[in-house]
Amino acid sequence: MNLKFYIKTYGCQMNERDSESIASALIDAGFEMTLIEIEADILLFNTCSVREQAERKAVGKIGIVKKLKRKRPELIIGVFGCMAQSRKDELLIELPHLDFVVGTDKLYTIVDIVKEEIAGRRKIVMADVDSSVASLETMNGHIINSDVSNKDSIIASISLMRGCNRFCTYCIVPYVRGREKSREPSSILNEAEQLVARGIKEIMLLGQNVGAFGLDGRLRPDGDESPFADLLEELNKIEGLERIRFISPHPACFNDKLIQAVAALSKVCNNIHLPLQSGSNRILKAMHRGYTAEEYLSIVERLKALAPGVTFSTDIIVGFPGETDEDFNATRKVFNIVGFDNAFIFKYSPRRGTEAVELGDTVPIEDKEKRNHALLRDLKQITSGHNHAMLNKKVKILVEGVSKRNKNRWFGRTTSNNTVVFTPSPSILVGDVVELFIENTTSATLFGRLLN
Ligand code: SAH
Ligand code: SF4
Ligand code: F3S
Repeated sequence: MNLKFYIKTYGCQMNERDSESIASALIDAGFEMTLIEIEADILLFNTCSVREQAERKAVGKIGIVKKLKRKRPELIIGVFGCMAQSRKDELLIELPHLDFVVGTDKLYTIVDIVKEEIAGRRKIVMADVDSSVASLETMNGHIINSDVSNKDSIIASISLMRGCNRFCTYCIVPYVRGREKSREPSSILNEAEQLVARGIKEIMLLGQNVGAFGLDGRLRPDGDESPFADLLEELNKIEGLERIRFISPHPACFNDKLIQAVAALSKVCNNIHLPLQSGSNRILKAMHRGYTAEEYLSIVERLKALAPGVTFSTDIIVGFPGETDEDFNATRKVFNIVGFDNAFIFKYSPRRGTEAVELGDTVPIEDKEKRNHALLRDLKQITSGHNHAMLNKKVKILVEGVSKRNKNRWFGRTTSNNTVVFTPSPSILVGDVVELFIENTTSATLFGRLLN
């Protein structure tokens, strides 16, 4: 009987994609995937370090599975990803029941390490830095195996690059993911074509800063070059692919060429996740973000002018060291001018090794909470307004499947990333693009009637 593995993933979509690659590689090597933790012979944890809470969650969970190992000492438990990279051997001291710790540049070694663990148990830590492009391709070579992804899913993601060179002062990512490396466009196009041949209709392109794709580590494009826009143009030509989305473009790389590509390419969705972090120029500078609030707003304005109906989502950090009420009000102002349709608001969390640690954690937690809630209230008001304005309008959606709340209804998303729920007709299939008339709205959802 095949040994079974279970993977629990924390962190961002790049981690989700890495877990898919590792799962596919393990399946190719003869292991079987299970979604039931207690059934597994091999328990794997893909971890995140971006905020303290992300680490705490994973450490807590790995601590709990110790009792499984007490009952079944042959159970193999491994940790990989960003926290493995940042804490390396330290994790073996904190969590002595762990069998192996694998850093972000060595993910492709996991299959061999699992085999070694089965053959003869020993503690393995593999977290050295490997900047070769080969390791990057080995990871991505595993196209999502249909046993790994939901078989009916019509959405898949592709990692374009790894690492980050920007060193925003609060951020641990450049330390745990290493220097930025882009894949070859031909390899990405090949992966996209294979996914589309398998029935994928929407592709999400992933990178810490997709706008820096193909810039060979430079922080911003020279003039009007944009290898990322060139890649979008090539992907747009793939027959059978309906939609292209991407996260995250850093504002410093969102030049005119990219703005024009987003507006002109029919498959590139009208929803841009553009991380703002702060609307105060003083704080943006202390964060080393490389743009001002005015420059950020200028990207938004140009996109709104060229791509009517475009919507925006963002990431914000509240409580960066030294953030005053005045700084926060500047953030709130930009937040409302843009009118975000979605926002991930994070309370600043000091990360070891980053520059901002030197500044202390000066904003009291009550102020962080207050600022967080104020932005969430603003967001709710903005989205209800946007949703209400959709009433009695026609929209096109890509059908994704059965609604989680009501099994008789299905759902899909508009290119602007609005979720619309509707009652299907018997001829409609997942992956179809259908037209709906919006009959009802709430702050979170639109309800539509089929038109075709
Ligand atoms: N590369 C992306 C962000 C990746 S990390 C970009 O530059 O936009 C995802 C988000 O986590 C960031 O946008 C930021 O809002 C948040 N984040 C990162 N480090 C953080 C920290 N130390 N404390 C709180 N939030 C943080
Ligand atoms: Fe972190 Fe900044 Fe890189 Fe994003 S661009 S991953 S926030 S260092
Ligand atoms: Fe977390 Fe690593 Fe992603 S730190 S956000 S899993 S790149």
